[in-house]
Amino acid sequence: MQRTIWRKIGAAFVTIAGAVTVHAATVLTQAEFGKMPDGAAIRIYTLTNKNKLQARITNYAGVVVSLNAPGRDGKMADVVLGFDTLPEYLANPTQYFGAIIGRYGNRIGAARFTLNGVEYKVPKNNGENSLHGGDDGFFKRVWKPRVLPDGGLELSYLSQDGEEGYPGNLSVTVTYRLTDADELKIDYAATTDKDTVVNLTNHSYFNLKGAGSGDILGHNLMLNAERFTPVDKGLIPTGELLGVAGTPFDFRRLTAIGARIEQNDEQLKIGAGYDHNWVLNKSGNALTLAARVEEPSSGRTLEVYTTEPGIQFYTGNFLDGSVKGKGGKVYGHRSAFCLETQHFPDSPNHPAFPSTVLKPGQRYQSTTVYRFGTGGAPNIKK
Ligand code: GLA
Repeated sequence: MQRTIWRKIGAAFVTIAGAVTVHAATVLTQAEFGKMPDGAAIRIYTLTNKNKLQARITNYAGVVVSLNAPGRDGKMADVVLGFDTLPEYLANPTQYFGAIIGRYGNRIGAARFTLNGVEYKVPKNNGENSLHGGDDGFFKRVWKPRVLPDGGLELSYLSQDGEEGYPGNLSVTVTYRLTDADELKIDYAATTDKDTVVNLTNHSYFNLKGAGSGDILGHNLMLNAERFTPVDKGLIPTGELLGVAGTPFDFRRLTAIGARIEQNDEQLKIGAGYDHNWVLNKSGNALTLAARVEEPSSGRTLEVYTTEPGIQFYTGNFLDGSVKGKGGKVYGHRSAFCLETQHFPDSPNHPAFPSTVLKPGQRYQSTTVYRFGTGGAPNIKK
């Protein structure tokens, strides 16, 4: 898989007069997206591949603003939730629409952890716990953009020692590439000057019918996982890895997201639906298939590949129709799903979980690929 991608990306690139980069048929253009309250100019980059798959990404929080993908009839739809303008993103930060999440994606229990015998306190912004890097996590930061000679978009950010309570100056780069195999590939890298913890992800909300086209309960989902991490009432893992067999968490075969979401299940009640981490079937950190989603009416499909050990599947349980997104469309309850590739939540407090510690001299590296297709099976009419 990785080799295929690199071969494609490695093909000839031509840069035309700064603004436009061409790879075979993949084109990158850029424009102004708006200004921050302090006057900082924010850019938006449009990547279009030879099949007209198109992603628009801004250097404000690295947000994937739109992602236009064809259905089986060739019709394009924007399959991610978001806003048309920068001020709307600034006014609605805590849905995290499309944003880079860090320094620590997902939750840290009791908003504290101990590293090398020192206790670090991070912001309590989710009950007693810390969520998605704190009040002013990476999802609110302005990133430094750079268009790469190979047609990728690199965003970099220096998270200062002590920012949101985390130790060490963390230098982060997140690189987006759109391949001719209809993949949005995101590479994350980070280095630190003190021991710290890192867990980076992207918080795109998908609806393969198109953002704002009703709920996602009829989408069919496969998760490549035998186990998940059950949680307490604050959505903090208990530490157990529970088998999915015989539970509504069994997505080993394509199953409608809505088929069991209302079942009388303690874990579903705690999450108000699905809002859990699945333990991906893998050993090591190879780039492997984590999830496949098929939308029957449009035929659109999404496959997620990752080097990460876990994936948070969240069914938009906190969306309530109060937010109007792109084109004035209302984003109602469960009108999108997130597949956040990650290390397990609260890992700094669970020594048995794969480690999220990064030390000076080491390099954090993580890759996630979202591959779009049109081969989804239609629903069989009764
Ligand atoms: C993550 C969390 C959810 C929720 C969303 C944003 O997916 O796990 O509980 O906070 O982000 O609303």
